[in-house]
Order: sequence, then structure tokens, then C-alpha cells
Amino acid sequence: MVVGIGRAHAKAILLGEHTVVHGTPAIAFPLPALPVRALARPAEPGTGSQVPADGHFRFTVGGTDTALSGPRVAAEEALRRWGITDTTVEVVVECGIPLARGLGSSAACAGAAVRAVADLHGLVVESGELYDLVQCGEQVAHGRASGIDASAVLANGPIRFHQGRAEPMPIGLDAALVIADTGVPGSTQHAVAGVRRRLDEDPVRAGSLLERASGLIEAAGDELSAGAAESLGKTMLDFQELLAELGVSTPHIDALVTAALGAGAHGAKLTGAGLGGCVLALTEPASAPGVSAALRRAGAVRTWTVPTRAMHAGA
Ligand code: PMV
Repeated sequence: MVVGIGRAHAKAILLGEHTVVHGTPAIAFPLPALPVRALARPAEPGTGSQVPADGHFRFTVGGTDTALSGPRVAAEEALRRWGITDTTVEVVVECGIPLARGLGSSAACAGAAVRAVADLHGLVVESGELYDLVQCGEQVAHGRASGIDASAVLANGPIRFHQGRAEPMPIGLDAALVIADTGVPGSTQHAVAGVRRRLDEDPVRAGSLLERASGLIEAAGDELSAGAAESLGKTMLDFQELLAELGVSTPHIDALVTAALGAGAHGAKLTGAGLGGCVLALTEPASAPGVSAALRRAGAVRTWTVPTRAMHAGA
């Protein structure tokens, strides 16, 4: 049987989550160690969505399935744009990314699903169109998404994202990032709505906070390219403070940040939407095992270590 295959991967935001929704830049990098694979094949109309226990899920596109999931909406929109209206396609998504942990699972599943449907029909999707289609899914999954997830889960290396555009981000840093999962799912939609409420409450304070955020993100970009790990760590801590002011940190996240610093990390902060999800710590490569152990002792359910030299997903 003909099968289309599509792939994408997780991402982590180094700096700029939440404020990016309000117009600041943000910096993110791909996590190819956490992949998503989607398989698309022709199906009988009438076969609906299933969420098997292993976390992989299945849906149909172009048939009678109406389950409102981001990946399904993205793939459905792809078929509509390409004028393929006389077919039902079954998509099976094998998601290697923990869900709702700020690692971009919804965007990566949507990207892989669109690529699989395109592959099934012998089409190659150009990157701008793929971004648009993933964003259609993200609007369903998250409400108003900035687009950083859609860019980073499809990117081959670190990116600087600003107002819908992504550029490659030069990295001159020889360090390691340790990502720690709090084990607590965080709702992006809920977190983004809470931040908006806070900013709307006090527009003067919001303006100065976003200005502060932009300054930190610019500084982080310079520190990344200059390889200034210690000052980048401090910038990450300053951004964590700002995210706490926006109400998206939690005592569990704060405890993980403290544990990482106690084990010698240069800096640490939440990554993604917060209210759970993951913490990202910057450390010297030699200190990474100690930082990772300290994070687990402080309650992280798992950790991943990414050397900054390996922040590329390949071709
Ligand atoms: O969905 P997450 O946890 O990967 O976070 C996305 C980043 C936000 O800035 C919180 C939302 C957005 O659309 O940029």
C-alpha cells in the first residue's frame, strides 16, 4: 500500500516565550532527539479519531472525522488548498515528544502530518506554506500562537524569530543545555490568556516589561554568538524573573531553577508556556551530569542534555 511519511521534532525556547506573542523577538532551537513521525495512507470514509494508550494517535482527513485537533486541522487545510477533495486519508502520528510540556508537540505533530499527507500525494511543501499550515493547526490548539513553535519544530538549527519571520541564529557557545520535565502538563492557551490579562491590566507596566524583555533577548543573542556562557546564564535568570512577574512560573519550576543553580548551572528558566512543562538550565558540559542529577533530586521526572554544538537537526 502507498504510504506517505512526514517528520518533525521538538523545540525549546531559550528566551522570549510569552513576550513573543506581544511582538518581541525570541530565540529557539530544535530538539531532534525528540522526533515525531507521521504516516499517511488512503482510508475508508467514516473511520474516525483514536488516541491509543501509547500516546500515538490517529485521525482521518477529508472524511467525516470532525475531531478538533491541531494536526488534523493543518492536514485538512493542506488538502483543501491543494484541491484534493475526493479522498479520505488516515494519518497515524507517532509522537516522541511529551505532550503539554512546552516542547512544541502540537506544532511538531501538525508539521509531520502535513508532510506525510503531501508525501502521499507526491507533493513537496515549500517551507513558507508548511509554516502557514502548521499555524492553522496552532490557532486551534493554542488560540493566538506567535508562530515560534511552527518555525522551530521545522528548523534545522537555532533561530531568532520576530513577528512571523525566522532567521538562523549564530552560536559560538561551547556549553550544554539540560532540559528538565516537571511532569506537570501546562496549558499554553491558559498561560497565554493569563499573561494577556496581566498586560492589559496595566499598559504602562506592560510597556516597560516588554521593553525589558526585548533588551534581554538582544543581549542573549550577542552572548550566544560571542560564546559568553556566564552572562547568558544571568540573562536567562533575569528572563525567568520576568516570566514569574507574568504569572507563569510555579513553586515547582522555581525549585528546579534553584536546584540547577546549586549544582553549578550558569542560569536556568522555564521554557515554553510554563505553569508546569519544562525547565532549561545552561551549564558547562562537564557539569551537565551533576546539574541533571540535581534536577531529578528536586522532582524532575526526566532530563535531556543537549550540547550547544549539537543544536542542529541536520539537513
Ligand atoms: O506551547 P509552548 O509551551 O511550546 O509555548 C509556546 C510559546 C508561547 O510564547 C508561550 C506561545 C506562543 O504562541 O508563542
